[in-house]
Amino acid sequence: DGDLLLKNITAQAPFPICFADLEKTVAEKIAAGPFGYIRSGAGGEQTLHNNRAAFKKYSIVPRFLNDVSNVDTSIHLFGKTYPTPLLFAPVGMNGMVHDEGELAVVRAAQHLNIPYIQSTVSTYALEEVAEAAPTATKWFQLYWSTNEAIAYSMAARAEAAGFEAIVLTIDTVMLGWREEDVRNQFSPLKLGYAKGNYMNDPVFTASLPDDSFESYVQGVLQNVFHPTLNWEHVRELKRRTNLPILLKGILHAEDARLAIDNGIDGIIVSNHGGRQLDGVIGSLDALPAIVETVNGQIPIILDSGVYRGMDALKALALGADAVAIGRPFVYGLALNGQQGVEKVMTNLYDELKVSIALAGVTSVKGLRNITLVKIDGTE
Ligand code: FNR
Repeated sequence: DGDLLLKNITAQAPFPICFADLEKTVAEKIAAGPFGYIRSGAGGEQTLHNNRAAFKKYSIVPRFLNDVSNVDTSIHLFGKTYPTPLLFAPVGMNGMVHDEGELAVVRAAQHLNIPYIQSTVSTYALEEVAEAAPTATKWFQLYWSTNEAIAYSMAARAEAAGFEAIVLTIDTVMLGWREEDVRNQFSPLKLGYAKGNYMNDPVFTASLPDDSFESYVQGVLQNVFHPTLNWEHVRELKRRTNLPILLKGILHAEDARLAIDNGIDGIIVSNHGGRQLDGVIGSLDALPAIVETVNGQIPIILDSGVYRGMDALKALALGADAVAIGRPFVYGLALNGQQGVEKVMTNLYDELKVSIALAGVTSVKGLRNITLVKIDGTE
């Protein structure tokens, strides 16, 4: 695979090859409001910084002379095999950067056979997404609603539409303190970008006084999050759905243990890309203790700051079963729709594949055995 890199060398202006180039190109293309909403982190952006810093603490000590001509990057997750250890993280309101929004993303997911997680606050309804990519693996991310009947209704619709898991996000019981959006006076919920799942939900629409746009916006703002969320809700959701449930936003090993005790099927180690609580541990820094506690009982997915193949490699080497990608694919979508999303994910994958081989192993599992040193000297 000597030409994995060369395929990026074209006659036209090249598609941005790394995250920094992507971000810069998108900043020049879209308005400050949406760009700031996507790029920024909460508060003073310490968490956003910690996510990147965590990856930089680790270095690989590679081994050689192992015949790395055949690299197998496949993984198994909930009974299915995927060609790469990558997933699409749930990202809301994709219509903000491209008219085709989530439809373009799920088509890319189907084409590349990468699991797709649809956000509660998506521009297109989950039924429309299912129709656009019937054979893609689709999971549904749930924000627990103040009106619990809406949460149960959405979970039931997802199951009926062929989604294969529910991802309950636990770190967003209210919105984080996002200063960039205040600076830009930007509120995407108020602009209608989150209408997909709500406007197609019979419980939600029945709760509105009328069918005006203002009532819909008010309804979403009132219903989207719920600060009372607790373990009893998790147990009740489990009783009400046949689908596997993942908890997204686990950072403490003790919460990972409680997830297992409560029959949860998988966890996503994440700090929401630094968008919720500021001053939080980098997600990669949180991983080792969680891996130790979970001890292989349920799959662990990691997101927040996975911006290149080498980041994915480090997370997998530290014990994640897969990684989820947020901002990079959104930038790809903003630049070139489905094709842009595919390009971003393919570059991440190609770098990962080359890196697995150059680290001296031939599979994702093999990465668990490589030597990884931390800058402070611990291993
Ligand atoms: C998100 N994220 C998110 N998570 C979630 O559970 N539901 C959602 O609706 C959203 N929406 C959303 C919008 C935007 C613009 C971003 C950037 C992120 C968080 C997402 O799933 C994931 O945790 C992070 O994006 C991962 O970090 P990186 O890859 O962006 O650094």
